[in-house]
Amino acid sequence: MLVSLDEVLSLADKGGYAIPAFNVYNMETVMGIIAAAEEQRAPVILQFYSRLAANEEGYYVAPIILAAAAKAAVPVCFHLDHGAGEKEVMRGIRYGCTGIMIDASTQPIEGNIETTKKIVELCAYNGIQVEGEIGHIGSAAAGDEASQSTTVEEAVTYANGTGIRAMAIMVGTAHGHYKKAPKLDIDRVAEIHAALPQVSLVLHGGSGVPDDQIQAAVKAGIRKINFGTDVCYSFLDKVFETSRDKIAVDLFMKDAIQNVKAFAVEKINLLGDANRV
Ligand code: G3H
Ligand code: ZN
Repeated sequence: MLVSLDEVLSLADKGGYAIPAFNVYNMETVMGIIAAAEEQRAPVILQFYSRLAANEEGYYVAPIILAAAAKAAVPVCFHLDHGAGEKEVMRGIRYGCTGIMIDASTQPIEGNIETTKKIVELCAYNGIQVEGEIGHIGSAAAGDEASQSTTVEEAVTYANGTGIRAMAIMVGTAHGHYKKAPKLDIDRVAEIHAALPQVSLVLHGGSGVPDDQIQAAVKAGIRKINFGTDVCYSFLDKVFETSRDKIAVDLFMKDAIQNVKAFAVEKINLLGDANRV
């Protein structure tokens, strides 16, 4: 069933585990992840990048996500990921998102707070909770995982100034595949979690983070973990392997869907998200 961001995060907050948030791009990635979530009885978040909301893709992918969520026997939140601004957020709401992220993390903290607060108010008017980002999480290709962690003071100032429900923090991850395995600032996760127990902490850049680091982060208080790049690889690796003799596209896609499912099953179990509903 389609549920709000607050609903899935509250399950994780109470249970002390993390909800995987998988970036989806097309019908096949949605099908693979929903199959995994239902099999594992796991609440999940399906999210799409802001650019999909801004481009034509969102118009087609959003109804697929909504149809999948409506049919699913497990709670599914449909989240806008890295919302670039008010226009993209408005589009996300129109497409039926039940969770919204606003990413104003490249702005100085005052501007980030101002932008985020406005989006929190706009979304509250629509009954939707918001994820914000404090401390910019950049790209692994640029080596951004080495940047400084979000401080407790920044996190508290940002959370109190905005009213966000969830908060992405910089603790040593970055987007895309890492050149070498990242070392997360687990102590900082625990400190921020202790200071803000009412805000669900989010780890971006989940692809390629070693399992023990993921588990330590969850133990320290991370309640949502994003996986994007490895959803793409789990899908594309199989597409590239599939014989060109298979012409019918629906048959061609079957192995790719199964591979996305296998990837999602692995992450659901790693995060402690299996058998929760
Ligand atoms: O917002 C999306 C995620 O942070 C994805 O990061 O592609 O490194 O898994 P990733
Ligand atoms: Zn991200």
